[in-house]
Amino acid sequence: MKALRDGEMPILQGLSDADFARFGALIQDQTGIRLTPSKRAHMEGKLKKRAASLGLANVADYCRMLFERGGLSGELDALIHLATTNKTDFFREKAHFDLLDKTLLPALLNARPRGGTPRIKVWSAAASNGAEAYSAAMVLAEAAKGGAPFEFAVLGTDVSCEMVAEANRAIYPATMIAPVPDAMKMRYFLQQRGAGNLAHVRIVPELRRHVRFQQLNLIAEKLSVDRDVDVIFLRNVLIYFDPPTQKAVVRRLAGHLRPYGVLILGHTEAAIGNGMGFEQIGTGVFRVV
Ligand SMILES: C[S@@+](CC[C@H](N)C(=O)[O-])C[C@H]1O[C@@H](n2cnc3c(N)ncnc32)[C@H](O)[C@@H]1O
Repeated sequence: MKALRDGEMPILQGLSDADFARFGALIQDQTGIRLTPSKRAHMEGKLKKRAASLGLANVADYCRMLFERGGLSGELDALIHLATTNKTDFFREKAHFDLLDKTLLPALLNARPRGGTPRIKVWSAAASNGAEAYSAAMVLAEAAKGGAPFEFAVLGTDVSCEMVAEANRAIYPATMIAPVPDAMKMRYFLQQRGAGNLAHVRIVPELRRHVRFQQLNLIAEKLSVDRDVDVIFLRNVLIYFDPPTQKAVVRRLAGHLRPYGVLILGHTEAAIGNGMGFEQIGTGVFRVV
C-alpha cells in the first residue's frame, strides 16, 4: 500500500467500524438479528457484492449512498435479506416431521368435534425458501390420502422478501431433495426444464395449492396470522435474537395457537421454551395449554 504523506487522509473502501455499527443497529432494530463481530467479514463480502451489482466502486461508497445520501429506504429489503442466514433443508431435523405424522396429527384430528371435515393449519414461521413448509405439507398430504378425510393449509412466512419469492416459485436444485423419501419425490416433484445447467425440480401444483407464503417480521407487535393454528414450526431463527427477543417472539407466536396447539423449536434453541408454562412433549416441542 502507498505510504500516506502528511495531512493525507486514507481512502476508505471497506466497511468501517462506524458503518458496521450502523448496520448492526439498523438490522437489530428492523429484524431482531444481532450482527456479532464474527459476522463482520461475511457481511462485508455480501455488501461488496451488493455495491458492485448497483455499479458502485466499493462498500464505502455504498455506505455513503445509504447513510449520507438518503438511499436507505430503497435498499432496506435488500439489506435485511443480506443480514439473514437462509440455510434450510427438506425434512431438516426429521424427528419433528415424524412426530407430526405419527403423534401430533392423530391427536389433533382426534380432538376435533365430530361432524364436518376438520381443517389443520400449520405455520412455518421462518420459512426461508419454503423447504420446511413443503415438507410439512407433504406429511399432511400423505396422511390425508388414507384414513379419515381432513383438509389442511400451510402458511410460510419470512422477513426476507427474496426468500418469500423463492418459496413461492417452489423450484429447487434436484440435489436438494435428497432427504425427501422416494415415494414423496415421485408424487410431489416435477422435473423442471429450462432452469440452467443444474437439474431442477418443482413442487407439483396439487401440493402448492395448500401452501401460501407471505412476508412477515417476527418481531412486529402484531402479526397478521390466524389465531387457531394447530402447529407452528419456529426453528433455527431464535438463535439470531437476544434472549428477551427470543422469549417475546415465542410468547407472541404461542398466542396464535389454538388451545393444545404445538410449538416446535429447533434442536439448538429447544431450551428457550422452558419455563414459559408450556407442556414439553418432545425435544423442542411444546404443547401450549
Ligand atoms: C436458518 S433459516 C431457518 C429456516 C427453517 N426454519 C429451517 O429450520 O430450516 C432462518 C430464517 O429466518 C428468517 N428470519 C430472520 N429474522 C426474522 C424475523 N425477524 N422475522 C421473520 N423471519 C426471520 C431468515 O430470513 C431465514 O430465512
